[in-house]
Amino acid sequence: MSQEGIPPLSAYSEAALGKAFAELTSEVDESAKSISSDESIEQFRLHWLGRKQGRLKSISDAWLKSAPLEAKKLIGQRFNDLKNKIEGILAVSDSIPIRYSSGPVLPGVSLSYEPIHAKREQEFRARLDAEGIDITLPGTHRTLGAEHPLIKTMHEMVAVFQRMGYSVGVGPEVETDYYNFESLNFPPGHPARDTQDTLVVANQEGKPLRDRLLMRTHTSPVQIRTMEQQPPPVRIVIPGKVHRNDAADATHSPIFQQIEGLCVDTNITFSDLKGTLDHAMKEYFGSSVKTRFFPSFFPFTEPSADVQISCPFCGGKGCRKCKHSGWIELLGCGMVDPAVFGFVQGKQPAYDPKKISGFAFGMGVDRITMMKYGISDISLLYSGDARFLEQFA
Ligand code: PHE
Repeated sequence: MSQEGIPPLSAYSEAALGKAFAELTSEVDESAKSISSDESIEQFRLHWLGRKQGRLKSISDAWLKSAPLEAKKLIGQRFNDLKNKIEGILAVSDSIPIRYSSGPVLPGVSLSYEPIHAKREQEFRARLDAEGIDITLPGTHRTLGAEHPLIKTMHEMVAVFQRMGYSVGVGPEVETDYYNFESLNFPPGHPARDTQDTLVVANQEGKPLRDRLLMRTHTSPVQIRTMEQQPPPVRIVIPGKVHRNDAADATHSPIFQQIEGLCVDTNITFSDLKGTLDHAMKEYFGSSVKTRFFPSFFPFTEPSADVQISCPFCGGKGCRKCKHSGWIELLGCGMVDPAVFGFVQGKQPAYDPKKISGFAFGMGVDRITMMKYGISDISLLYSGDARFLEQFA
C-alpha cells in the first residue's frame, strides 16, 4: 500500500466526482484484499484512517477543504460513504468470524476478504472443538408454556374482585366432612348432601364422621376456614378445584373449578350482594351486561339466589351460546346463614349474627371459560391435548 499523492480534482461536476470516488472505492476494495492478519488490519487502518498521513486525511485536505462552497456538500457525502465503507470493513474484520454466505454484511460492504475470515474461523472452530461443542447440531427445542384457559379465566375473574379490595385465599382439596358439609349447615343425613356426592378417602370408618376425609365438593369450606382464622371484616375470593360424583358429559366433569366469594361486615345487605355481583359481571363481560337473581336454595345461605347474566354475545337476543334464551346462569349466592356464623363463633366470637352479616357466592369457572371461548365439550379442558391448548397460547 503505497501512499500516493492525491491528484487534484479536474472538476466539481457529479460526473467528475463520481469517477474520482469510484476509483477510490475500488482502491479500498483492492487494499482490503491484503487483510490477512491482525497486523494487516492495523496497516489497513493506518493507511486509510491514519490521523496524520492517512489517505482520507489527504483527500480531505486536497479536495474538501479547498472546494467551493456549492461543491462541499457533494464531496462531503461521497467522502462519508467512503469512510463508512472503510470502517465497515474494519468492523467486520475485527469481529469474531462467522461464515458469511453471500450478500452484503454491512450496508455497502460485501465480503470479499476471505483470507482473514477463513483463518479466524479456523481458530474459532479449533476452540469450539477443544470444548467439545458441535455447533452444527440442532439446538434443543423447548416450546413455551402458556396459561391453561381455566387458569386464565380464574386469574381474570379474581383480578376483578381484587380491584374491589378483595383478598385471595386457598384451601385444601382433601377436606373433612365437617368443613365440606356440617359447618356449612348440611347435617349428617340431610338430603342436601345428595346434591354433592363425592369420592371419600377409604378406611376411615373408625373416625367420627366429622373427621372423615373426602374430596371437597365446593370451595365453600374455605369460607369457614377463613372466618376461623380472622375476625370480621372479611372480603375474600377463593379459586380452586372441586370434585363431584357426576357422570361425565359435555357439560359435566367429575373435577371442575370454582371461585368462592365471601364478604362479612356490619350492615352487609342483599343490595350489597347484588351490587357487587352486578359490578363484577359488567367488569368481566362488558358494561352492557345485565344480571338477574332467582330464588334458590343452599343450606349455608338464606335467602339464596341463582344469578343469570344477559348473554354477552348476542346482547340478550338469543344465540347458540345462550341456547337461544338470551340469559346464562353463572353462579349461586346468598346471605350467609346465621347458623354458619354459629359454627365459627367457637373460634371467633366476633361472628355474632346479631352484630354482623355477610354474603357469599360461588361461580363455575369451567362454564365461564366454555362460554367465553365457545368450547362445547368440558372434557377438552381436562384432556391435556396440546393441539387444543395451543390455541390459547
Ligand atoms: N357452593 C355452592 C355450590 O357449589 C355455590 C355457592 C357458594 C352458593 C356460595 C352460595 C354461596 O353449588
